Amino acid sequence: MYSEKVMDHFTNPRNVGEIENPSGVGTVGNAKCGDIMRMYLDIDEKGVIQEARFKTFGCGAAVATSSMATELVKGKNVEEALQVTNKAVLEALDGLPPLKVHCSLLAEEAIHAALWDYAKKHHMKIEGLEKPVNDIEEKEDIEEEN
Ligand code: FES
Repeated sequence: MYSEKVMDHFTNPRNVGEIENPSGVGTVGNAKCGDIMRMYLDIDEKGVIQEARFKTFGCGAAVATSSMATELVKGKNVEEALQVTNKAVLEALDGLPPLKVHCSLLAEEAIHAALWDYAKKHHMKIEGLEKPVNDIEEKEDIEEEN
């Protein structure tokens, strides 16, 4: 039911972990299942993504899609990274079972949330980027303050 690539990225996920002082970090939640993904990006002064790491508190499909998404955004500039949609990640993984397609949305949204954070820190606007609806960073900040 899962492609070989999905199994490979699930059992041997690439780029798991954190980046110290990331250029951008974003955390999103999947409204359907409650799973969470955090994405860290290291972006150089030319706007090219040098490093991408993730932590996923979620299912195997979420782990595999985050792993593939980090591989796909590395070496891309921020505008190109917006093209790493859930569809692009799914294609790179040779698909997911229909019931698991919603899991791949986490990866796309986590990239967008991290890019949003990067743009905010640099007082810039990334053409075509909108704040992900499931961005939960602010909610966490509120919880930490309380
Ligand atoms: Fe939650 Fe897959 S079941 S992300």
